[in-house]
Amino acid sequence: MSKENRRKFIKKASLGGLLLLGTNLKAGENFLEMPENAFANRKFTANDKIRIGFIGCGIQGLANANSASKVSGVEIAAACDLYDGRLTMMQEKFGKDVKTMRDYRQMLEMKDIDAVCISTSDHWHDHIMKEALKAGKAVYCEKPMMHHLDEGMTMVEAEKKSGLKVQVGSQRVTSLETLKAAELYKSGAIGDLILIDTRNDRNSSNGAWQYSIPTDASPETVGWDAFIGDAPKRPFDKTRFFRWRNYDDYGTGVAGDLFVHLFTALHVITGAVGPSKIYGTGGLRFWKDGRDAPDVTLGLLDYDKSANHPAFNVQMRVNFVDGSGGGSHVRLIGTEGVISVEGDGVTVINRPVRTEPTYGGWDSFGTFSEKQQQDFKKWFEATHGNDFRYKIKSPQEIKYSLPEGYNAHAHHWQNFIKALRDGDKIVEDTTFGLRAAAPSLGANMSMKAGKPLLWDPVAMKMM
Ligand SMILES: NC(=O)c1ccc[n+]([C@@H]2O[C@H](COP(=O)([O-])OP(=O)(O)OC[C@H]3O[C@@H](n4cnc5c(N)ncnc54)[C@H](O)[C@@H]3O)[C@@H](O)[C@H]2O)c1
Repeated sequence: MSKENRRKFIKKASLGGLLLLGTNLKAGENFLEMPENAFANRKFTANDKIRIGFIGCGIQGLANANSASKVSGVEIAAACDLYDGRLTMMQEKFGKDVKTMRDYRQMLEMKDIDAVCISTSDHWHDHIMKEALKAGKAVYCEKPMMHHLDEGMTMVEAEKKSGLKVQVGSQRVTSLETLKAAELYKSGAIGDLILIDTRNDRNSSNGAWQYSIPTDASPETVGWDAFIGDAPKRPFDKTRFFRWRNYDDYGTGVAGDLFVHLFTALHVITGAVGPSKIYGTGGLRFWKDGRDAPDVTLGLLDYDKSANHPAFNVQMRVNFVDGSGGGSHVRLIGTEGVISVEGDGVTVINRPVRTEPTYGGWDSFGTFSEKQQQDFKKWFEATHGNDFRYKIKSPQEIKYSLPEGYNAHAHHWQNFIKALRDGDKIVEDTTFGLRAAAPSLGANMSMKAGKPLLWDPVAMKMM
């Protein structure tokens, strides 16, 4: 059966009630509702537009500009980048009126810019965010919020001091499947949370950050000295510039880059603010192209009990050499089932833990003598009755799929613009951003130190 037909089949079956699949598994599929366009019925004049400048116009900067441009009343007003080709590209995509520049400080001086979007390499986030807030600009800043742990609190303080809106750009905070998983978790769908199993694996050269390097890359077309910023000085190196993620000087490794999405999702779903113990390990196993970042990182995290959740453990993984084909999931495993955020939706499987006393199968019962087996049976039935096998509830599975055409990134942007226009609460402020990025960086720090680290997620500091 094709994927499309299977979808229709399951949908049809779910309309008529639950469908029996395989051994006693009851399954159904529902579709999550497309969020409303908050600005659908509002008209904006040229004077009423929110004008945004984009600092860093590479892969994610372009994605941000595309998503922002889908929100009514937003104007892509300016673009700043250190590779000239990307400035040309921004005008090609968004029109010749987009003001372009290499130096972001020029953009911060523009009186008619309301907000800036920072999509530079990680090592520039803190500097640009703080300067932008000082200049009175609201900020949308990409994840991971910071490059080094100690930068985080300075960003939280800058946001507070400015009184301006800052949104961090991990769109899983907004995404329908994360929110549905949170609703399911809070409704008690899986009983008590025991463990979260989560991964973000890849299996290709692009996936392993060997991004294309333009043939015209040169010291003339690239602002190399500006790119270096607070990183150690070195001569022009186009590989480092276009594949900066592979180097600790500018990026945060696979943990900083990708664990952060997993922490973001699990913090939204459970209401947790962070682990108390962080253990990271891993290494560079395959992509030995000169990079110093690992291509495999594993994290083990302990979360203490809080008002929102019991104590639980997390196992987290990024593997860039995933022979099984890559993929990402966040699975919350509880006493009565599993919530799995994966692929195009969220699935809840209820398979209650079997606590009823039983005997037989892989059990010591078969090792008893025949006489003892008979005596045991008599004793068991007198004590527990003989219908114990029928008390066990059959497992059931319900999938909540994303609606056709849903775009979490555009949704995240809509939230940001709504906060700017109507004063709505920011869904992902710097405190949230710090709490997702810190354990990601902590996993790298633990890997380097070769020992677990203790983190205070409330005070947001290493112990
Ligand atoms: N939210 C997500 O799902 C998501 C996805 C991808 C990337 N990101 C984040 O977005 C950021 C950018 O990643 P990318 O893949 O777009 O990288 P990229 O290399 O494609 O683009 C980065 C751009 O930033 C520019 N830049 C660097 N320093 C600058 C400075 N001081 N002033 C002006 N421009 C500067 C570079 O010239 C480059 O064009 C990273 O922090 C990354 O973690 C987020």
